Amino acid sequence: MRPLSADALAFFTSDRGRNALSSLADLSSGLAGIEALRARGCSADEAAWLLDQANLRQRALKKLGPEGAGLLFTQEALEQASHRAVSEWRFGRLRDALGPAARVLEVGAATGGDTLALARAGLSVLAVELDPIRAGLLRWNVEAAGFTERVEVVEGDATGRSWPDMSAIYADPARRQEGRRTLSLEEGSPRLSALRGIGCAELLVKAAPGLDPDEVPPALGLAFVSLRREVKEALLAGGSLREHFAAAPGEGRAWILPGGHELRGPIDLPARTGPPGAYMFDPDPAVTRASLIRALGQELNAWQLDPRIAFLSGDTAQETPFARCYEVLESGPHRRKTLAAWVRKHEGSRVDVKQRGLRGDPNELARKLPTRKGGPPLTVFLAQTDQGPLAVLCKDAAPAG
Ligand SMILES: C[S@@+](CC[C@H](N)C(=O)[O-])C[C@H]1O[C@@H](n2cnc3c(N)ncnc32)[C@H](O)[C@@H]1O
Repeated sequence: MRPLSADALAFFTSDRGRNALSSLADLSSGLAGIEALRARGCSADEAAWLLDQANLRQRALKKLGPEGAGLLFTQEALEQASHRAVSEWRFGRLRDALGPAARVLEVGAATGGDTLALARAGLSVLAVELDPIRAGLLRWNVEAAGFTERVEVVEGDATGRSWPDMSAIYADPARRQEGRRTLSLEEGSPRLSALRGIGCAELLVKAAPGLDPDEVPPALGLAFVSLRREVKEALLAGGSLREHFAAAPGEGRAWILPGGHELRGPIDLPARTGPPGAYMFDPDPAVTRASLIRALGQELNAWQLDPRIAFLSGDTAQETPFARCYEVLESGPHRRKTLAAWVRKHEGSRVDVKQRGLRGDPNELARKLPTRKGGPPLTVFLAQTDQGPLAVLCKDAAPAG
């Protein structure tokens, strides 16, 4: 896919370009599509630009829902856009925190994944984008989505100046620098210090889930957000937004989507450890990232197999949005032969290997286990403990009640 040029943007903004874009849905991709567009009077460049958009719109459907099929993107901007389920949750909370009359300064709006979600949440937005092509696409998208009343688009650098009458700042800094990914908040674009320099205390910043929590300034709180057990983002929040989104000092906070469940608790609890009980719990990765394993253990009356390992075990089955629960079938020191014998005994049809603190490829191990068709799916927890490598073979726990 070629980078989107100023000529392509000018074409998309023209009447001819708009007409061609509105008939994109019935195009096949590849050569046949190009020929169909050429037959409709498009130049070779125009046909190629349109086909690129047709391909991007296909991908956008997954991430942004049906609205994505009517917008314009660059490949990188689409990759950077937030998943719709996450932005809807994030900005629903933001609207509840600020009230519907709030006006949000969005720093670095790109092609508008988050901008449109802010507007859909009912907030009014001043969306600033540095890159002129992206700013042009953003304007196009705001118009296509019918939000020109609620969203003002400004092209330029949002930092290094003040923006009067803003209720809050939202930013999702780019994390790629000269082709390489960065986790540092001070290497993002814009930098966290530049965002704070704008001078609005109400600040919400989306950051990489792999960020270093020690880099978060004390004035900001941190939280982790997962969607269907994948950590999608870290959130940094300042001012009154901290209480709405993020942890207080000494705390962790995790948000589990799509349900919007919240786990919040101290991060310095002493370890409670022990051998496997009747059940195992595999915590949601956002709980682990937020250092809330021990807080969750307290809530579930469960313990760790080892103070460094993020698996929990307990004596009672529990349904919780914060962890998956499994019934223990076998446990003992981890040896491949023993594990194979257990799998044979329980006639597992496949084995999901969850491994912490041990070397070796879990997928390769899973492939080599003697499974047979028709049996139950099994899960094995493998963990390094002070007593050596431990294996716990489980099946899914029946839902409580
Ligand atoms: C990760 S993208 C935002 C993606 C967006 N949240 C979405 O969901 O589509 C970050 C954007 O910030 C823009 N940007 C970086 N520094 C900026 C600055 N100082 N002022 C305005 N925009 C900036 C970049 O050009 C880029 O488009």
